[in-house]
Amino acid sequence: MRIPIIAGNWKMYKTVSESEAFARELAPRLAPFTGVERVVCPTFLAIDAVARALRGTDIAVGAQGMHWEDQGAFTSQVSPAMLKELVTYVIIGHSETRQYLGETDETVNKKVKAALAHGLKPIIAVGESLEQNERGETAAFVGGQVRAALEGVSADDMRHVVIAYEPIWAIGTGRSASGQQANEIIGGSIRAVIAELYGDEVAQAVRIQYGGSVKPDNMAEFMSQPNIDGALVGGASLKVDDFVQLVEIAAREKGR
Ligand code: PGA
Repeated sequence: MRIPIIAGNWKMYKTVSESEAFARELAPRLAPFTGVERVVCPTFLAIDAVARALRGTDIAVGAQGMHWEDQGAFTSQVSPAMLKELVTYVIIGHSETRQYLGETDETVNKKVKAALAHGLKPIIAVGESLEQNERGETAAFVGGQVRAALEGVSADDMRHVVIAYEPIWAIGTGRSASGQQANEIIGGSIRAVIAELYGDEVAQAVRIQYGGSVKPDNMAEFMSQPNIDGALVGGASLKVDDFVQLVEIAAREKGR
């Protein structure tokens, strides 16, 4: 059985004090729900404060990205060696970093390997553009992104990998994929590629989230799908009430 995982990607929202206050408010509200892993990914600046606020709770902290080198002359960057003192997860390959920050399949792969080498758990984001979707290229494109991201990753390390299927046209647009569409890509393309690379047992164990305009209103539609193991959430993760509802729905649909 795969333990569902709900991760909040706060993007460039919330100051340090706002992030810390949010974490303190969220922790007791999420405590009653079991069987669902929960993660918050604040800005780099707020990671320390949020990690301190959440110490002793069952909410994990993640980063929104990182460089692949341990250290060096890379102005503005943060390394896995630095992150591992504070976080458990790191989002790699988000479409916004691919679009605005020059992230490529090659840098995604370097970062995934670096994260795993440092004991960080990567949440690898993949997803097609609207044009690719309309041309019917989704399965091939997303499958290719998964292959590229995992090149050189061992079957043993796959235990620590989470994948997030995030169609670009669904991110922040209010227009989500249907549960069935997302389930088909996740099962028929992403999990199928992992099975081809690592065998069925590994593929059945890897957790694959859906992301893109996930809200309390549509959460049950995604969580009722057999191949969807949680969600990577932007906008709705910025409100305590919404975040609590997302975890509650995941616990109801998937929890044990
Ligand atoms: P959204 O963002 O939930 O605001 O669409 C999802 C994401 O970018 O991870």
